[in-house]
Amino acid sequence: MFLAEFAADARVLWRLLCGQPRSGSHGERLEGFYAPQAERYDTFRARLLHGRGDLIAALEIPVGARVVELGCGTGSNLEAIDQARPIATLADVQLVDLCPPLLALARRRAAQYGNVEVIEADATTWRPPHPVDRVFLSYALTMMPDWRAVLANARAMLAPGGRLGVVDFHLPQGGSRLGNRFWKTWFAHDGVHLSEAHGAALRSLFIEATLQECRAPVPYLPGLRAPYYLFVGVKPFERL
Ligand SMILES: C[S@@+](CC[C@H](N)C(=O)[O-])C[C@H]1O[C@@H](n2cnc3c(N)ncnc32)[C@H](O)[C@@H]1O
Repeated sequence: MFLAEFAADARVLWRLLCGQPRSGSHGERLEGFYAPQAERYDTFRARLLHGRGDLIAALEIPVGARVVELGCGTGSNLEAIDQARPIATLADVQLVDLCPPLLALARRRAAQYGNVEVIEADATTWRPPHPVDRVFLSYALTMMPDWRAVLANARAMLAPGGRLGVVDFHLPQGGSRLGNRFWKTWFAHDGVHLSEAHGAALRSLFIEATLQECRAPVPYLPGLRAPYYLFVGVKPFERL
């Protein structure tokens, strides 16, 4: 059982060991990193990327909402959305990502819903045609070099009172200097850039509704627990 799982994970583990390609544009590096892992992405990431369902539950998506995921990957969060609020009861869901091999899987998934659109675009600049009610990023902000532009864009596309959700790895405030340095270096090898500035920016752009700091196991590394957080914030109504 363990050996069969290990053999199935081998391509993913090899790519993680090699790290994200260092040359090319951001999109080319993502494609070089994810193309060899795409078919096994969901099974492996289910054991690495924790709290995604919790984030979607905490977003409290209302009936009739317009929902956007920036950096959707294979679209695996559609299942959690559907559990929290049946997708058929929503106005629409738009899934945005830059990486074609992952988007191909997202398109396969989205095909079963009449109101889910999969869009190849950069989260720094893409805008929906109407203001939306919920925007979320699940383990994507740390992989976006211009993450400040992404947060500003997410805020701009939300209707006042709309909610932004983020779940991602982070450097915990209570973490030791050595521990935080370890996680920063370890994740950076795969193009995941942890920064204390993410939390501060989220709190300055949105009214905090939920903040949880957690740790979760890492596949094949017993004893190691990676720090992640879950944030939900509300876009304030502007004062006149
Ligand atoms: C770790 S994956 C997370 C995928 C998915 N949200 C999940 O929870 O499984 C990070 C995703 O962010 C995407 N990404 C990185 N930079 C991006 C950008 N500037 N615009 C859109 N997507 C981006 C990557 O292509 C990748 O699919």
